[in-house]
Amino acid sequence: MKQINLTTSIEIFESKEELSRQEQELVKHAEEACRKAYAPYSEFNVGAAVLLENGKIITGSNQENAAYPSGLCAERTAIFYANAQYPDTPVVSMAIIAINKNGILENPVAPCGACRQVLLETELRFKKAYDILLVGQSSIQKIKSSKDLLPLSFIGEGLLKKN
Ligand code: THU
Repeated sequence: MKQINLTTSIEIFESKEELSRQEQELVKHAEEACRKAYAPYSEFNVGAAVLLENGKIITGSNQENAAYPSGLCAERTAIFYANAQYPDTPVVSMAIIAINKNGILENPVAPCGACRQVLLETELRFKKAYDILLVGQSSIQKIKSSKDLLPLSFIGEGLLKKN
C-alpha cells in the first residue's frame, strides 16, 4: 500500500482592501452581478465576474427555473459566456460572491462540484491557471488554480476520440 497526500494552497485576505485594485474591481463586478441573479426558489443569489486577458470583464449570476435542475450556477453562466464570446482568450482571474436574506455571506462561497469541473476545463483548455477569488464578509480566499479546487479530477483521459 502506498499513500499520497494532496495539498491545497489558499491565500486568505481579511478584507477587500488587501486585494489589488484590479481584484477589487473584479469583486465589485461580481457583487453587481449577484444582485441581478434570478433565484426566486432558493433566494440565494450568486454572482461571478471573469477577467479575460484582453481586459474584458464578463459577469454572470445564477439563473433558476421552476424545473429546478434546468437552472444554472453563476460561475458556469459567466465562464460559458466568456468562453463562447472569446474562445481564444484565456481567463486571468475570477471572483465569486453570494448574498442571502442576511446580506453577503459571512464565509467565502464554495463553488459546487459541477462548476469546479467547468472552471478546471477552462484552465486546461487555455493551458493557463487563473486566480479564483472566493469572497465572504469575514475573509476572501484566493486559489491560484482550479486544480486546487478539484483534486483527482476527471480530465477526459480515456475518452475515445474519432480520428
Ligand atoms: N449556486 C451558484 O450559483 N453557485 C454556487 O457556487 C453554489 C450554488 C446557486 C445554484 C442555485 O441557484 C442556488 O445557488 C442555490 O443552490
